[in-house]
Amino acid sequence: MTTPDIISIGYLIAAVLFILGLKGLGRPRTAPRGNLMGASGMLLAVLVTMLDQAIISYLALAVALVIGSAVGALLAVKVKMTSMPELVALFNGFGGGASVLVAIASFIEAIELGRADNQLATAAAATALIGAVTFTGSVIAFFKLQESLKWSGFTGLPLARAMVMVVALLLVVMVALQPDTRAWLWALVAAGLILGVISTVAIGGADMPVVIALLNAFSGVAASTTGFVLDNPLLIIAGSLVGASGLILTQIMCKAMNRSIFEVIFSETPAAVAGGRDDSDVYGDRVTSTSAEEVAMLLEVADRVVIVPGYGLAVAQAQHAVRDLMTSLEASGKEVMFGIHPVAGRMPGHMNVLLAEAEIGYEHLLDMDQINPTFSETDVTIVIGANDVVNPAARNDPSSPIAGMPILDVDESRTVVVIKRSLSPGFAGIANPLFAADNALMLFGDGKQAVIDIAAALVTV
Ligand code: TAP
Repeated sequence: MTTPDIISIGYLIAAVLFILGLKGLGRPRTAPRGNLMGASGMLLAVLVTMLDQAIISYLALAVALVIGSAVGALLAVKVKMTSMPELVALFNGFGGGASVLVAIASFIEAIELGRADNQLATAAAATALIGAVTFTGSVIAFFKLQESLKWSGFTGLPLARAMVMVVALLLVVMVALQPDTRAWLWALVAAGLILGVISTVAIGGADMPVVIALLNAFSGVAASTTGFVLDNPLLIIAGSLVGASGLILTQIMCKAMNRSIFEVIFSETPAAVAGGRDDSDVYGDRVTSTSAEEVAMLLEVADRVVIVPGYGLAVAQAQHAVRDLMTSLEASGKEVMFGIHPVAGRMPGHMNVLLAEAEIGYEHLLDMDQINPTFSETDVTIVIGANDVVNPAARNDPSSPIAGMPILDVDESRTVVVIKRSLSPGFAGIANPLFAADNALMLFGDGKQAVIDIAAALVTV
């Protein structure tokens, strides 16, 4: 068997492993196996690519490997679990940026060797545009997720965005028609970088999850078009898989948020209007605070309890304490379920991952459509560190930045206990009328400590 044969077979096996891996990731039970298959496929792909020594010397690869591993190990140790979403956003950006660099280098080499035809130029142009948008878009998303970038609005933005988009598309055509003129390619990269910034800077409120999923899809599409530039079938397949799964996730997120992708990208920013309202209008003196002992007494007489986790559960790392509370409630004959909102937390599946870590069985987790009809039969709902995903303003206030976003109807339960440290808003930056509802009690404090206190008080009730 010749080396090219071994490379082709290796790529084929890696591609099959990627597809089986993705299939496995579709269900929680098969996810660990799927993860292992995907990782094995990637290992095989890297080994086979190294065999295909057309790329660079082993020494350069070894140096890159050491630097990359050191940075990865440092991030793994330093980055807190709650900062994972930002890190994932940054990784999407690095993927897009790497695609641009690889495609440009390969295309310029082709120009110098006189092999740059229109087909190659089209693939390089697509990579330059999509990769550059992904890079700067993800960097902006990173700062937005860190909540260190606030956008106060600019009325000319939609027009500027439309103009840069048209210019970028014209540049794609120019690169494709005149492959030997490098200036078109550099101008296209610049337009892509600007487009990435002005397309994401204004997106906020509840739309961020959609943007993260879309940027993830873009990073896959950029990798796939790089595969065409490099004539590497595995990169085309792997990039297409990431692109397609990212687009499916984007569609799921849009459905969950009741928004079309067009509305997310082109409508004026919900974030720009957020925070303008005086919170005292919403809360007045109608907020009732409670204690762990009082909550324990409510739980003592409850038959059905629903727990709704949100981003604050991740911050407080309260998942193990919540599992202990669930166990003691079930031991006294109560039904305990979890209501999971698709965008609770800061990344898709955030709550599922946290609860799985605490070994809370999947049979306890109900998604929004399943849990919502049951709130009216629920005695006590405990909201832990969730805010936007239980904000009734989304349902009742058409002027709210999150108007139309489907929420968990926790206010329909007999009593709602909200555990958080203060009346501060959540990610969307808006007040939550739930906290002032007649059937709502606020248990102010850190999520983990509050749950531990409730469990302790239950023992003594
Ligand atoms: P948020 O609306 O962000 O609210 C989280 C709440 O947790 C805050 O109000 C905060 O209040 C509380 N909290 C923070 N630390 C706490 C602690 N140690 N103990 C107790 N509470 C704590 O969260 P959510 O309801 O999960 O909604 C998610 C939001 O993020 C949505 O707007 C969504 O669009 C957005 N988003 C989601 C994603 C994905 S894919 N899931 C990605 C990007 C953005 P205090 O400070 O008063 O404690």
